[in-house]
Amino acid sequence: MNADNTSTVRPERTERLKGRVALILGAGTSAPGISIGKASSIAMACAGASVAALDFNVDTAQDVTQEILAFGGQAIAYQADVADIVAMQAAIERVMQDFGRIDILQINAGIGRVGGPAETSLEDWDRIQKVNVESILIAAKLVAPVMVKQGSGSIIGVSSVAGMRYLGYPHLAYSVTKAAVIHFIKMLAQQYAGDGIRANTIVPGLIDTPRIQKNVAKVFDANADMDKTRRARDQQVPMGRMGTPWEIASVATFLASDDASYITGTEIVVDGGLTGKFV
Ligand SMILES: NC(=O)c1ccc[n+]([C@@H]2O[C@H](COP(=O)([O-])OP(=O)(O)OC[C@H]3O[C@@H](n4cnc5c(N)ncnc54)[C@H](O)[C@@H]3O)[C@@H](O)[C@H]2O)c1
Repeated sequence: MNADNTSTVRPERTERLKGRVALILGAGTSAPGISIGKASSIAMACAGASVAALDFNVDTAQDVTQEILAFGGQAIAYQADVADIVAMQAAIERVMQDFGRIDILQINAGIGRVGGPAETSLEDWDRIQKVNVESILIAAKLVAPVMVKQGSGSIIGVSSVAGMRYLGYPHLAYSVTKAAVIHFIKMLAQQYAGDGIRANTIVPGLIDTPRIQKNVAKVFDANADMDKTRRARDQQVPMGRMGTPWEIASVATFLASDDASYITGTEIVVDGGLTGKFV
């Protein structure tokens, strides 16, 4: 895996996840480009997994499945809001009809709104909580029993360094929910360790994905100038650059694989050194 986030760069093909089915929630993108869910879907397909790519915005999930099918992988797109248990139940039933099992569950959809308590409406707080945290309850409620029956599974939560540290600007609802992701996944890991299910969280640092255009660009430049935003984010990181979605996808693929067979109930911070620095 590398530091290039262009769509022409792909992970090498392996058989690390051969025969496994990966359900990726939030597999699409919120704007053109490569998101963490898209990169994870493609990376797992490159490792031999069949991918169930689920997104609220199904067109973007279909872009992902088309890319996977184009290189000879297996993938189907599904539409659902991760915070809607009825829609999720229907989608997961279809995944089971199509693939017959779920070995990997990556709970990746996430939203936020910049602001502190004064700027955060109760409606926003509620929606962010639902999409970022209640979605884990819903997904685990529906998928853990499938994995228990199989006797194996890997659940991957996607938090953020915002769930561990103050980022330098208020992003309250997002940060609180991202802290909850870490603890929720730890609780799942403990409960299901004896069932052959591992559960871990990836904690990405500042990653160069389409989301930053929509969400955080205005924090760095009043006109949301993306070049200025990218430079400002690059400079915050000890390694001197944001991470790429591929650098998160490679960790997701590792956690999904047998290479991580003794890893459960923990989090892996992937941040170029960001959380280790004082100023
Ligand atoms: N980009 C970063 O710097 C960064 C850093 C840390 C953590 N993260 C986390 O990584 C995850 C992916 O982020 P990204 O930057 O790739 O973002 P993104 O916005 O490009 O991708 C998120 C995807 O989730 C989908 N989604 C959103 N709400 C949904 C819902 N209710 N139901 C179904 N799908 C829904 C969106 O349509 C989109 O395709 C998020 O959880 C985010 O919080 C991102």
